[in-house]
Amino acid sequence: MNYQAFVVSETPSGEFISEIKQKDVNELPQGDLLIKVSHSSVNFKDALSFSGNKGVTQSYPHTPGIDAAGEVIESSSKEFPVGCKVLVTGYDLGMNTSGGFGEYIRVPASWVIKRRDDLSPELAMAWGTAGLTAALCVDKLISQSNLSDKPIVVTGSSGGVGSIAIRLLVKLGFDVHGVTSKSSQVEEIKKLDASKVYLLDEFLDDSKRPMLKPEFSAAIDVAGGNVLETLLKKVDYQGAIACCGLVASPKLVTSVFPFILRDISLLGVDSVELPLQRKQAMWDKIANEWSLDNLLTECKIIRKEELSSVMTDMLAGKTSGRYILAH
Ligand SMILES: NC(=O)c1ccc[n+]([C@@H]2O[C@H](COP(=O)([O-])OP(=O)(O)OC[C@H]3O[C@@H](n4cnc5c(N)ncnc54)[C@H](OP(=O)(O)O)[C@@H]3O)[C@@H](O)[C@H]2O)c1
Repeated sequence: MNYQAFVVSETPSGEFISEIKQKDVNELPQGDLLIKVSHSSVNFKDALSFSGNKGVTQSYPHTPGIDAAGEVIESSSKEFPVGCKVLVTGYDLGMNTSGGFGEYIRVPASWVIKRRDDLSPELAMAWGTAGLTAALCVDKLISQSNLSDKPIVVTGSSGGVGSIAIRLLVKLGFDVHGVTSKSSQVEEIKKLDASKVYLLDEFLDDSKRPMLKPEFSAAIDVAGGNVLETLLKKVDYQGAIACCGLVASPKLVTSVFPFILRDISLLGVDSVELPLQRKQAMWDKIANEWSLDNLLTECKIIRKEELSSVMTDMLAGKTSGRYILAH
């Protein structure tokens, strides 16, 4: 059976090029389930794979797409019969296993979640890995810290994780502040009901002081580097920072003072290798008490032909919000 896929290849001179190719399902890896993908979403990690980042994808040609929503076409699993509506996010999908930017994927049953009827494939992909990660960050902050009544601050506010984290925190009744690197996005982020939005350049601390006035009860950080370094100095006593990304830098230079003088917790968040049961529980929450009105209407729906330019812009920090790929 033939299908179309967005394929990234490495040229002999070490450049990475992409094209939409005709493929055969027999080329897909072994796995319990063959899934016809209706929708995927574009995440920063897909853009890294597209750019030839070997920390994400070791060998090319490769089809990225770490998220997929679709229907089971062939199955050797009793749990997921033919016709079952499913979601796959994370594990190795789109990294070194052909991903959701192809019209078919074949994966182990241990990566798959049944999609509930009240969560359409488009809405599931509007959340996608970015939304799942935002939900995990919020969940960790709520369950593992002792938050004061100061606001919670979210970095990368116009991006996938950041924008969904703001909306979710607002829904849960928190006062939320945003940080953005784009002046053009300040008003858009306020529309998410963030009560204050800082421009990144003004937010960053270059004083070299070990601690600053505590302004926030907690933070969700997608940036790392000097952004996370600044957050650590500005979080209140017994606050916490959920750390999930590295768009600014994977490096962190800090001191022990926020930890030993303010009792702050730095909470790591990973949505990729998360045990399936916990993923399922979080998706149930997303479809129920944490559902977000209008999330889908704010997403951009794109075709395979637009993937290359969207991911190029994403790597340059020029995108905002969520992009859903409709096959
Ligand atoms: N741990 C996990 O399981 C997990 C899961 C998903 C994503 N992530 C990571 O989380 C991060 C965000 O992912 P995403 O899908 O939200 O990406 P995204 O949609 O591209 O959003 C990232 C946002 O970060 C901001 N930004 C870009 N460059 C920046 C810089 N140099 N310094 C500070 N801010 C910058 C931009 O927002 P503004 O324009 O508002 O500044 C951008 O929109 C990535 O590092 C991704 O790999 C981790």
